[in-house]
Amino acid sequence: MKPKVLLTHKLPAAWIDSIRDIVELIVPETDDLFERIAEVEGVFSLLSDPFRANQLEKATKLKVISNMAVGFDNIDVTWCTRHGIAVGNTPGVLTDSTADISFGLIIAASRNFHEANIDASEGKWFGWSPTGWLGMELAGKTLGIYGMGKIGQAVARRAVGFGMNVIYHNRKVVEDAQGVKYVSFSELVTQSDVLSLHCPLTEETKGVINAEIFHQMKRTAILVNTARGKVIDQVALVEALKAGTIAAAGLDVTDPEPLPMDHELFKLKNCFVVPHIGTSTHEARQKMAKIACENLLAGLAGERLPFCVNPEVYLGKR
Ligand code: GLV
Repeated sequence: MKPKVLLTHKLPAAWIDSIRDIVELIVPETDDLFERIAEVEGVFSLLSDPFRANQLEKATKLKVISNMAVGFDNIDVTWCTRHGIAVGNTPGVLTDSTADISFGLIIAASRNFHEANIDASEGKWFGWSPTGWLGMELAGKTLGIYGMGKIGQAVARRAVGFGMNVIYHNRKVVEDAQGVKYVSFSELVTQSDVLSLHCPLTEETKGVINAEIFHQMKRTAILVNTARGKVIDQVALVEALKAGTIAAAGLDVTDPEPLPMDHELFKLKNCFVVPHIGTSTHEARQKMAKIACENLLAGLAGERLPFCVNPEVYLGKR
């Protein structure tokens, strides 16, 4: 009998080709993602699907949750580890796509894309304007990177190409990061002309960019977030953007997602928002799906996942 797998959302057939004949896929037909959780041995999930303890209580057959994302803050990994459930993610293959979006947002925010586009399309483009939509040149400016993992390092490489000085703060110094300088968190926020966030969402990073931090940042500073919305205190961000405490923001992630259409952030001309498209390239998404399938199959077979976020689950196992 084929193992049952909950596929939380329909995906292009080609992306899940390697699992279609091996498992019995259950795709929810109602809004209740967890209706058949008790039946399944595996879950193929997206970053927007919450897998918390209360939702997993009935998942007594579950061996593996394979998340098609590098981030896994949507899953209660501690609970999974305690219950012997391996959790997989898809790092590496989305680094360049996400770094490209980060840099796109850096340029969009520093050069007023949002305001210029609104004005141009609303009849406020009266000809070439010597003083119109003035932004900040990136060459010679300081990019601060919070979270110097694979994506942070890829953004740093792009910034060096743009003639920026790069500083970073990370839990530990990254030995092989070239041409960049490790600084304290306080130096990072006070010295950055552009502050770009690349940390995972954890108890430690939740709300780490808050009102107090905005007041320490340069008034000309730009904040870019391609990590997770909750890393920023969003109410404080709206205030900071309105009051000119910082100059502008570029956001790929928000809290919540989707952001309600009447949200204040959409009304601010100095805030450029895109709908969590950091990994949204054909290349990245296909490779993410491939790794997610490999993680899933390994987990169902009781083997080590190629990319496992809770290797503690194997402690004591051979
Ligand atoms: C995207 O946000 C991811 O975690 O893959």
